[in-house]
Amino acid sequence: MDKVIIFDTTLRDGEQAAGASLNAQEKLEIARQLDRLGVDVIEAGFPASSPGDFEAVRLISQEVRRPTICGLSSADRGAVDRTWEAVKEAAHPRIHIFLSASDIHLSYQLKKSRDEILKTSREMVAQAKNYLDDIEFSPMDATRAEPAYIYQILEAVIDAGATTVNIPDTVGYTTPHEFGDLIQSILTNVPNIHKAVLSVHCHNDLGLAVANSLEAIQRGARQVECTINGIGERAGNASLEEIVMALKTRQDSFGLTTGINTTQIYKTSRLVSELFGFPVQPNKAVIGANAFRHQSGIHQDGVLKKPVTYEIMDPKSIGIPSSILVLSKLSGRHAFRERLAELGYTLTEEALNRAFQSFKELADKKKEITDRDIESLIAEELRTITEVYHLDHVEVSCGDHSLPTATVRLVNPEGQSLADAALGTGPVDAVYKAINRIVGIPNKLIEFTVKSVTEGIDAIGEVLVRIESDGVTYTGRGASTDIIVASAKAYMNALNRLLAAKQSQRPSPKSFNFR
Ligand code: KIV
Ligand code: ZN
Repeated sequence: MDKVIIFDTTLRDGEQAAGASLNAQEKLEIARQLDRLGVDVIEAGFPASSPGDFEAVRLISQEVRRPTICGLSSADRGAVDRTWEAVKEAAHPRIHIFLSASDIHLSYQLKKSRDEILKTSREMVAQAKNYLDDIEFSPMDATRAEPAYIYQILEAVIDAGATTVNIPDTVGYTTPHEFGDLIQSILTNVPNIHKAVLSVHCHNDLGLAVANSLEAIQRGARQVECTINGIGERAGNASLEEIVMALKTRQDSFGLTTGINTTQIYKTSRLVSELFGFPVQPNKAVIGANAFRHQSGIHQDGVLKKPVTYEIMDPKSIGIPSSILVLSKLSGRHAFRERLAELGYTLTEEALNRAFQSFKELADKKKEITDRDIESLIAEELRTITEVYHLDHVEVSCGDHSLPTATVRLVNPEGQSLADAALGTGPVDAVYKAINRIVGIPNKLIEFTVKSVTEGIDAIGEVLVRIESDGVTYTGRGASTDIIVASAKAYMNALNRLLAAKQSQRPSPKSFNFR
């Protein structure tokens, strides 16, 4: 097999990144873009972990028809059944069951014997087999488990019907050579391995996730699990764009292909960064802002003469725009819709109307509207879809010799208008205090960042806040040409996510349900 299956887990492992919390609509937007990107499998979530995740996986299963839609499940009968409910309407459903396999996890966390784990693994795969054919199994923490025990588990689950077996380096502990040896030894020591696809899932704790994944591919793995921009639990996962571009650029060395349309990489990266609220570091390989910028005179000279002198990839092959397209207040609805489609957004007619209205309002204040402005507007639109409280009005009075005072009006879920006012150390503090007086949910502000989306005095200001409640972090973002309004929107966005999580009684993303 000379094709590597690209399994994207941005919406599942990526969503386990601290501070990540997407609503179902945002997840659907990303899933649609992953479809355009050409990924083979989308791991859309962990349906049994919360009603919100269940609904998002179900929605994606109904709407995104080309790729396989996978739901993660703990090795528990109830979880397997619930995962099936979430993915059953997909054109190509998959259930991915995981259970720890290392002695460290077995003795300290699960307090179970190897035999018990082996039996449960087999039984849960057999349980899923009652529903569907496409089943993946992961022995968690495989790289710290005894290889002979991993061979035993893999043989048993393949026998029970697993069609993909995935080897997770759960804590990012392994090294390329060691991991490659493990993959090769699995191919030799598991007698029925030819009946399943061998997959890998690497974490980046030592910065080796991509290197480990590529080594595993060299040694025979044919599915790789990865995320856009490398987001994920702790230090993240193997980055999809780096793996795909390594396979493409070094085709001479790997001799393998993927189904990825690489010209969609840049758009996908921007969309994920925008909706997750995680900026991409400038020196990030492939998609960082500096990845194709040449600073030294010698390099600039070379690139002007012949790009190949200092560029091993063509930025166009990643979809990096060569010029910034600008819209203005004269641009019509059609041009706006076209640009949205090019940026990877598909909006319902109603959402498009609202976004176009916001675009026109912005165009009245700002001469040129760039892609970054449009991304910001749409992200704002998607954020408002699942609001619990809506920010209706915000007004501040502040200055050199006055006490910063804010008045805010919110609309609650019952449609009532609630207003309050507060003093603060500054205008943003006053606004947040006034909001807290109305919403009344304890939380601690742990991060507040303002940045301008583009250059110029008329630029949109984007505010990112992180708040903490009961040990869980919630991120909120808001955008406006007025940074006080943007700050209020960002805080409301974080509070709405907190309220939604409390309503769905969502456990901490890290508290998997082991049984
Ligand atoms: O890192 C890990 O072990 C996982 C499993 C659920 C596959 O994410
Ligand atoms: Zn993981």
